[in-house]
Amino acid sequence: MNVDTVEELVLQSLEHEMGGVKVYEAAVACAQNSDLKKEWQKYMEQTKAHVTALETISKAMNVDSKKETPGRAVVRHLGAGLMEAMKMAAKEGGPNTTELVACECVVIAETKDHLDWELLSKCGAHLTGHGSSALKAACDTIEDQEDEHLYHTKGWCRELWLKSLGLKSVLPPPEERKNVKTAIGAARAEQAAHPKG
Ligand SMILES: [Fe+2]
Ligand SMILES: [Fe+2]
Repeated sequence: MNVDTVEELVLQSLEHEMGGVKVYEAAVACAQNSDLKKEWQKYMEQTKAHVTALETISKAMNVDSKKETPGRAVVRHLGAGLMEAMKMAAKEGGPNTTELVACECVVIAETKDHLDWELLSKCGAHLTGHGSSALKAACDTIEDQEDEHLYHTKGWCRELWLKSLGLKSVLPPPEERKNVKTAIGAARAEQAAHPKG
């Protein structure tokens, strides 16, 4: 395994979680549906804990958590873009448009978050020493949370869009009702709610 790239992944993941806290602060303010707002408040608290977990992992791996890399700067830039998008929507659009934009921003952010922890979990199996145990302990809890963050928010995004289109929608989304934690579970929940041909 390429240890330098593992270090880069840890730093990008940390930067992304730090940006994620800001994205959730903004998204919670944009949420109109009270169940969604509650859900995002929970995810925001978990995201704050993910920042702390990655700082612990960096320390255990002897990686300076403040070290800058070009990849980390890109992660920060993309996070700032999501914040900007929500600000634009809040300024120009109505509350429902703003809520949809916030949903899409969270889905985009959670897609990388999900990828980061999937990769970190794979790295944990190959590392040795303190870094390995810190990484494995964090992944045991966090990977599951990231599944929920991504699949449930994708469900909210789709159902809120359907509602705004005046089409059949299921709120809270089926992914939420069925407590989906896998891609295949999410596909099944969607298919059951919106059967296709
Ligand atoms: Fe996270
Ligand atoms: Fe997340």
